[in-house]
Parts: sequence; structure tokens; C-alpha cells
Amino acid sequence: MAAFEKFNFKTLDEIRGKVEALGVKVNFSTDLSPLAKPVKIGTRTAPNALAILPMEGCDSEQDGSPSELVKRRYQRFAAGGAGLLWFEACAVVPEGKANPLQMSLTKGNAGAFAELVKNTDLWAEEANGRGHKPVKVLQLTHSGRYSRPVDVAAPMVAQHDPLLDPRVGLAPDAPVVTDEYLDELIEKYVEAALLAREVGFDGVDIKACHRYLISELLASHTREGKYGGSFENRTRFLLDTIKAVRQAVGDDFIIACRFNVFDAHPYPYGFGVSKDDCWVPDLTEPLALVQLLVDNGVDLLSNSAGNPYYRFPQVTRPFDQPTIGGETPNEHPLESVARLFEFTRQIQKAAGSVPVVGNGYSWLRQFLPYIGAANLADGSCSIVGLGRQGFAYPDAPKDILTKGEMDPKKSCIACSKCTQIMRDHGRTGCVIRDREVYVPLYNEARNNAQKSGK
Ligand SMILES: Cc1cc2nc3c(=O)[nH]c(=O)nc-3n(C[C@H](O)[C@H](O)[C@H](O)COP(=O)(O)O)c2cc1C
Ligand code: SF4
Repeated sequence: MAAFEKFNFKTLDEIRGKVEALGVKVNFSTDLSPLAKPVKIGTRTAPNALAILPMEGCDSEQDGSPSELVKRRYQRFAAGGAGLLWFEACAVVPEGKANPLQMSLTKGNAGAFAELVKNTDLWAEEANGRGHKPVKVLQLTHSGRYSRPVDVAAPMVAQHDPLLDPRVGLAPDAPVVTDEYLDELIEKYVEAALLAREVGFDGVDIKACHRYLISELLASHTREGKYGGSFENRTRFLLDTIKAVRQAVGDDFIIACRFNVFDAHPYPYGFGVSKDDCWVPDLTEPLALVQLLVDNGVDLLSNSAGNPYYRFPQVTRPFDQPTIGGETPNEHPLESVARLFEFTRQIQKAAGSVPVVGNGYSWLRQFLPYIGAANLADGSCSIVGLGRQGFAYPDAPKDILTKGEMDPKKSCIACSKCTQIMRDHGRTGCVIRDREVYVPLYNEARNNAQKSGK
């Protein structure tokens, strides 16, 4: 691993030179046309190959419906012109919320979601021209270990984990979620998916990344019973949920899955890791899972990795600046970026014609279009996903597609301040490029956190 460095490139040649010096696999292309190509996703078509990844603001109304901040976020995303809008984590049951203001779609607030979806299409068309209609997928989640529905952590774990339990204040003998709870939870995913279809989404994502409940189930080597132990058991909940949702929604609705390919967490608590070294990925199981997902009719995939709540957040989101008290990574951010690209490459190869959305592009700033275009051109992914860049520079897709470039002054600088707000339990967005709204919210969350001794 090379020494950590902050981003310091002014030209494409400079960043290309660094890539060569490090010997990492990051390719470049100045032909940006692959980014403009429509992408077929199930029975829908995204008008271009750029996506906004799910980015939660922790800022809905108490009942889980879209607040003014939520509406503002999706107005910005829609106007920005991405072909796929992957709506943020939305809890399927109240006890599975990651924070009290996480989105949650229920019979009681379905009208508010229908309005959001309808307006998203209007905002997209208004800003990008007649006929521009993004594909809209809603991420469904249960936060499991990271559940905090009413301002106090209320972890619901799939298995005990000596590294992670102390961090959520979990006693070693606290109960794990039961098989019966999981059996009943499948129906909650089905109900949420049916509601999502009713309010106008094009599909749902059964979220299985970042150590939330289904992600932890994939790694539950030490769990007993039908949802733990063997690969078949650990993938059972995810696959049964997908089958049940498919049966309920029919074929004309996208089922997506965003899942962790590599936990960077030691065996027997990690998924996609070698048994003797958690820093060495072993994709045997993740690739077998891709095959099962494809065989079960999943229309769209996105790979992620790591656990943003644990020690190595660069595995999920390469950065320049850690959150307060966080460690500086023991590797160059381009190595973290290249690792995510390699996972996407492998997953896309295994998924065949099912599109895979790549991630990890935000750290690359204004150079991301050249790298995204190269990844599309050689089949390393089907769609280029923007996470933090979407918060910072929601118009990036439009600028890439119409001007052929991004403005470095509008770009995300990978400072982790949006993550910091989340850690401080505030409402989040870009503190650097959307200052008027988010500097006060950053300060408010910091003050509250400091008062409570963080
Ligand atoms: C504040 C914040 C909120 C996020 N919310 C979600 C989410 O709701 N669901 C999800 O799958 N990933 C979420 N992510 C992860 C991003 O979707 C993305 O994978 C990550 O930021 C890496 O992409 P990037 O380098 O383009 O930012 C979040 C990330 C941040 C910083
Ligand atoms: S606060 Fe803004 S600039 Fe900093 S990482 Fe988040 S999106 Fe990027």
C-alpha cells in the first residue's frame, strides 16, 4: 500500500501520472460518449449512464414522509440530469430506522411520496428537456445493528461480533434477532415494495450493504438456525425477500440489490474476505451471490464495500479528510478507488447483461467523467454512480453531458463533513458547496454532539 496523500491534481496528465506511479488499475478516456448512452434496466430505460447513488439526509418528517429538505434534495438531483435516481434508505419497519428522521413509506404517508415522485419527474423534465425521465428506484432497508429509531441506539443484530458489539453498547449475551422475526420481516419488504410501486417508483432496492441487517446476515457465519452458518443459510433471507417481492410486484417493476462485496472485517464476522486476512478480498461467495441474484430476476445491481461506522471508511468512500477523531488511511485514496472499481468490474462480469452501478467516483473530482467513460467503454460497469458528488454538485451529470466537463470549483472535496453530520445525528448535505443550508446544520449537530460529550 502506498502512502496516503490528499488530492492534488490540476490536469488529467497529473492524475494519470500518479495512477501509473502507483500501478493501480484506473483507466481514462477522453471520449465521454458512453456516459450519454441510454441504459436498459429491467423494463425501463435510463436516459443516460449516470446515476445519483442513495444518499440519505436523515431529515424526513417524524412519520418518515419527505420534508422540505428531502424535497429540495430530490429537486436538485432531478434537475441535475442523471438517468438513474437511486432514492435513499427508507426503513421498512419503525424499529429498523437508522435515525428518527429516516425516510419510511407507509400507507399513511403514501400520498406525500406519490407527490415527491411525480414532482421528481416534473423537475427532471423542466431542467433537462421534454422526454427526459429518470429511472427512480427506492432503497428499502432495516438498519439492524445500527437501528436508532428514537434517538437512542437500539441494535438488532443478526450475530454477535466482538469488534462491533461494544461500539453500539451491546452486551455479549443480548438476544439476536430471531428467525421468526426475520420470517415476518419478509412481508414488510413486500408491503413497502407494493407501496413503492403504487406511488410511482420504477423499482425497489433490497439493501444489503454497509453492515445493516441484511449485510450482517450475509456475514453471519456464527449465527445458528436457517439464516446463519452456511452460504445457503446466510443468503436465504435476501433471496427469499427478493422472491417474495417479485411474486408480489410482477415482472414490470425493477428489483435492485445494493450489496457489500467485501466487508474488510475479519472472518467469521466478515463477508467477501479471506479467512486469514480480512484485507484480502475473497470474491468466491459474492460472485456466487451475484449468480443467484441474477437467476432470481434482479434487474439492477450496485456493489459497495466496507462499514462506514467502523474503522476503515475509505473502503466505502475514499476521502481526503477523516471525520473528527477518525484515522488517516494506510493507503493512497487512488488505491481505495481502484479497489471499488475492481469489485464493480468483477460483479459486472458475473452479472452479464444485468447492469451494475459503479461507485467511489467522488474523490476523483472533475476527472471522474474521463474515468467513468473508460469504465463504461470496457464493460467494467454499466452505470457511473455519484454519491457525495451528488450532494455537492447535483448538476454534474448535466455539465458532463452538455458541456463535456465538470467545474472543479463546484466539486466535492471529500472532506467527510457530510458524514460528520450523520455521526453527530444531524440532518446532512454538503457543507462546502451548499453552505447556506448546511453550515448552520453542521454547527447545530456539532454543538449538540459536544454537549452530549462526543
Ligand atoms: C451522508 C451519506 C449518506 C449516505 N447514504 C446512503 C444510503 O442511504 N444508502 C446507501 O446505500 N449508501 C449511502 N451512502 C453511500 C453512498 O451511496 C456511496 O456509496 C459512497 O458515498 C461512495 O460514493 P462516492 O465516492 O461517490 O461518495 C451515503 C454516504 C454518505 C456520505
Ligand atoms: S461535505 Fe460536501 S465536499 Fe465534503 S465530502 Fe460531503 S459532499 Fe463532499
